Amino acid sequence: MNENEEIQPGRILVLCALPYTNAVPHIGNIVGSHLPADIFARYCRLRGKETLFIGGADENGTPTEVATIELHVSPKQLTDALYLIHKKIYNWFWISYDNFSRTSTSTHHKTTQEFFSKIYENGYISEGVLSLPYCEHDKLFLPDRYVEGTCPYCQYSKARGDQCEQCTRLLDPDQLLKPRCKICGNTPIVKESKHLFLELEKLIPQLDEWIRSNKHWRIQVISLALGWIKEGLKRRCITRDLKWGVPVPLEGYKEKVLYVWFDAPIGYLSFTKEWAETNNMPEEWRNYWDLEKGKEAKIYNFIGKDNIPFHTIFWPAMIMAHGGLKLPYNVIGLQYCNYEGDKISKSRSWGIFCEKLPESGVDSDVWRYYLTYLIPETKDSDFKWEDFENRVNSEYVGNIGNFIHRTSTFVWKYLGGELPAVQLNKEESIVKEIFLTKKKIEELLDNVRLRDALTEILSLSDKGNRYFQENKPWELIKGSETDKEKCVHIIYVCTLLSISLSILLEPFIPKTSERILNQLNINFQEKWDSIGHPFSKVKHKINEPHVLFEKLTKEKVEMLKATVTKMTPLEEFLRKEKES
Ligand code: MF3
Ligand code: ZN
Repeated sequence: MNENEEIQPGRILVLCALPYTNAVPHIGNIVGSHLPADIFARYCRLRGKETLFIGGADENGTPTEVATIELHVSPKQLTDALYLIHKKIYNWFWISYDNFSRTSTSTHHKTTQEFFSKIYENGYISEGVLSLPYCEHDKLFLPDRYVEGTCPYCQYSKARGDQCEQCTRLLDPDQLLKPRCKICGNTPIVKESKHLFLELEKLIPQLDEWIRSNKHWRIQVISLALGWIKEGLKRRCITRDLKWGVPVPLEGYKEKVLYVWFDAPIGYLSFTKEWAETNNMPEEWRNYWDLEKGKEAKIYNFIGKDNIPFHTIFWPAMIMAHGGLKLPYNVIGLQYCNYEGDKISKSRSWGIFCEKLPESGVDSDVWRYYLTYLIPETKDSDFKWEDFENRVNSEYVGNIGNFIHRTSTFVWKYLGGELPAVQLNKEESIVKEIFLTKKKIEELLDNVRLRDALTEILSLSDKGNRYFQENKPWELIKGSETDKEKCVHIIYVCTLLSISLSILLEPFIPKTSERILNQLNINFQEKWDSIGHPFSKVKHKINEPHVLFEKLTKEKVEMLKATVTKMTPLEEFLRKEKES
């Protein structure tokens, strides 16, 4: 972001792109949206904001259809099985969704159809006849993604009918040069079919003005969005000749379904409604979405870069055409995360696939810690086993873990697990450092700069280690009364720093943060505001410390590498699902 701005009062709605449930998530999916969204949502809650974190499965459209054709199962069988797998993985990572739903729910269908009808009444939908690619071999109108060919803009030879992965431009299948059917490879013929369109061009001035007004967006996101507007927006087809999806609620079109990119983003709204209903506050969604009632609310979208056009143009255009709903406040478009120098690929089985992580015997926080460094905030990142091992061992365990552990074991061993209340001097340099770091982290996280915030915490912990080392409490404790008093003071400060570190770390490693605070017997109401302040007025007793940070051995890493880089074929999941 190019402007510093503090999070203002008002509710925060954190939205994570809805993953297609046509495959098991890989590590790139976690670092590319769920993890950054979760870190931000946790931070907002920690700051005392009313925060809602929404996500869910994108179950319609071509990705699902392709998978069902390949696997010979029904869309329902496929999405039911995959929904559970996705949910299990996000739970394991402690991704703190308030509602992780799916686009096959009745609330979603209803909300989508109402949304459509509103846009239709407002005059933003037109009719037209399309000449569509039809595969005579497969007897099927080929959905956008089933058609592959050469991108007319960048000449990439494997562009899909909906979008070119190389230059990220949105496409229509008929723009592809040398088109071929993805299923059988034959050249499709062209057949006519009646369709509905969203009149994007009517909204150009409004979109242009809105995008320009978002000065706090990342520069890459703004320039991409303005680029598409400059190229000229054409009306976009929002119906498909498919069976699986949300039926079009309009006479003459009832055999068709709505385009997946039409219904999926409405999921953000319908899942918010669903959350409100489930919590017996059916009107509460308005405080996040309604232009009037949610005036103070801010919506943050966390998405991958291929999703940028949909979240800066298409979905905002739908919101404008609808009227009365809030546009996103920030669209955090993330780059890609590679694996060992190359693009993650399911077909080449190249990457880390998440289904085995829960049984891998390595704590989810260890993964969260390293993955935070890989959040591709400004450029593509790269997972490397060597880097994983080094960072975990030297930083996570060697720096943070070491400081917290040596402090609490000192209290336990030498001070009988008790700390007297101590007169703190606010001018003491390390105490000052705590407040300074807290301020810096607020600035960074308010601006969704997650990795830099983690680096700041690390450097604070480093200062703690040096403070401990230089003051040699293990010598002081054996000295005179004055030495002992000094020792207690130093350990009190170290404990205070441990507590502060674990609160600052909560958005990143929530489980471990909770464990540290339990160990230190701390139970604050207002955690964030307690950072740096004396933690007790009377004698404070801690609980027996246990090892919370463990080094990764070479063998462990080898073992991990052998298991988590193997992809379980989808067939296997579906079979297990059937059996259970
Ligand atoms: N399913 C899409 C993808 O994985 C993202 C959909 S985001 C939403 O690329 F806005 F449509 F919900
Ligand atoms: Zn074909």
